[in-house]
Amino acid sequence: MTKRLEVHPDIRQARRLDGAFYHEPELYSRALERIFARSWQWLGPTGEAPGPGEALPFTFLEGSLDEPLLLTWAEGGKMKLLSNACTHRGMLLCTGSHSQRHLRCPYHGRRFLLDGAFVSTPGFEGAEGFPSAEEDLPQLALEELDGHLFGAVDPAVGFKETAGSFRSISSFAPLGKMRENHRAAKVCELKANWALFVEDHLEGFHVPVVHSEPGGPANHAANRTELFPWSVLYVRIAAGADPVFWLPENHPDSGKRVAAFHWWIWPNLMLDLYPWGLSLIRVDPLGPARCRVTSRSFSDRPESTGAGAGSDLRGEELEDEEFVETVQRGVRSRLRRSGRYSPAHEAGVHAFHRMIAAAMAGSAE
Ligand code: FES
Ligand SMILES: [Fe+2]
Repeated sequence: MTKRLEVHPDIRQARRLDGAFYHEPELYSRALERIFARSWQWLGPTGEAPGPGEALPFTFLEGSLDEPLLLTWAEGGKMKLLSNACTHRGMLLCTGSHSQRHLRCPYHGRRFLLDGAFVSTPGFEGAEGFPSAEEDLPQLALEELDGHLFGAVDPAVGFKETAGSFRSISSFAPLGKMRENHRAAKVCELKANWALFVEDHLEGFHVPVVHSEPGGPANHAANRTELFPWSVLYVRIAAGADPVFWLPENHPDSGKRVAAFHWWIWPNLMLDLYPWGLSLIRVDPLGPARCRVTSRSFSDRPESTGAGAGSDLRGEELEDEEFVETVQRGVRSRLRRSGRYSPAHEAGVHAFHRMIAAAMAGSAE
């Protein structure tokens, strides 16, 4: 029987998401189809995308969905996100970057334009009702947000609903002008369910216990969590003389000494804005108790990364990774009942669990 996940809407009464979510293979498979195949995924900076007349193959959520896709840009057209599987027998059309007007299948020679339209195929004389629109390459949803590309296989909610709050509240940050610090890019694998990594990111509750804080202990009571339909914002107030944002007058936190805006966007993207720039983390599922963490860093003033919140990201990440892996061992204990939430500190985690429960039940649209 399939397990039903439920989380009470009132955090003061709710029990946490059932621990089975973090290790049962059946729930993991359901999460791939109901959460990951139906949500928006960060694909990378727009600067890494193909130029006009080019195609770039990649694997969407490698190690879980393993969907072979192509980013293409036909001359005089727009960038597209297409299936890379030939509509004849499924051969991958393109395995390295490509810069010709046509995509030509290496198996039996079917041709497509870079916008995915079927052009020709040898040997189909006599096939009835052929070609139909089904011979075109399937096209997926593609959006750009401030210099970053997002794609989705079959999104349950629109891109605006997913990332609109981030865009409106963080519009002061010049994301589109930031350059990547390639030396800070990192990919690592953890022995933990992807959702445990997200939960660690959704609360500042562990920060004074686990991390030594730059600038001395912060005033955690001043921090705040704001919930949106598909994202959560955690605003961290500066400790001591830490660098802070200059925020425009119409910003909801104008006049406050904000050291960091920690965004989480459904289901697996974390965007941490610091006065020096952006730390971006995507956590991908690799198995019920395995995930891959991709971290990238972008800045428009790289000289100012040395102080305040976010100045020792690598040290904090190592500490978080160790805790997340250890929690994985605890959540699967037969003796553990699902615990309660701290109403003061875990509103973001509770909201995340409610989203998981809705998506897993197929009622997240
Ligand atoms: S698989 Fe592409 S033409 Fe046959
Ligand atoms: Fe942490």
